[in-house]
Amino acid sequence: MKVSVHDTYEQMSQFAADEILSVITSNHKALLCLATGDTPKLTYKLLVEKILSQKIDISQIQFVGLDEWVGVPPTNPGSCHFFLHKNLFVPLTVAAKNIHLFDALSNDLNDECKKMNDFVTRYGGIDLMLLGVGTNGHVGLNEPGDSEKNYAHVSKLAQSTIEVGQKYFKEQTGLDKGLTFGLANFLESKRVMMLANGFKKNNIIKRIINDSVSEQLPSTLVRKHKNATLILDREAAPLEK
Ligand code: PGA
Repeated sequence: MKVSVHDTYEQMSQFAADEILSVITSNHKALLCLATGDTPKLTYKLLVEKILSQKIDISQIQFVGLDEWVGVPPTNPGSCHFFLHKNLFVPLTVAAKNIHLFDALSNDLNDECKKMNDFVTRYGGIDLMLLGVGTNGHVGLNEPGDSEKNYAHVSKLAQSTIEVGQKYFKEQTGLDKGLTFGLANFLESKRVMMLANGFKKNNIIKRIINDSVSEQLPSTLVRKHKNATLILDREAAPLEK
């Protein structure tokens, strides 16, 4: 695992946007699996600006959503669906055929996961997975203790994810389960970028770097990945000894 530390959130977001751009320009049919949340917001804004100003052709790039809250409709601004449309797909005018998101209202959630897994397999795997870091060490919605053998699946949310997740919603929202690509998808992605910024992430980043690699802290698995970069701002980065 490489660690890339930047002085500010702005600088780390510039770096992350440039890295995504280099994946896109070196493979115009890349499959990107993208997280939502506060962390990647500026990365996506800068990525959109770069793609539009440099007139980069993304007409064949495929996008899969990393995860979704079960039962939350796509019209809810707190849904991952809404976030990705607002921050990426609408400004980039991505064609619907290139967008693959979990339907969290499906009455067959397992089948929904199977469809997402099948799409990724058919396409030849995820070229780049971009992730944030949960303060409890979750990856996507793979919570502490979830198996690293899991592909896309229904996950039972940890209490801290339910509580912290309220920040995305205008009103108190009943969260219980998630749909998420699994740790096996994560480990098999050709490239992984894990982003974290701010003092609130300092402790978990310290643990990701120092604790033993374990499903009990899913984000430590990033150290097992052959092509992963942990991208941090100075506040999230543990002090160098
Ligand atoms: P955040 O979420 O980017 O909103 O901090 C990260 C996560 O929970 O994975």
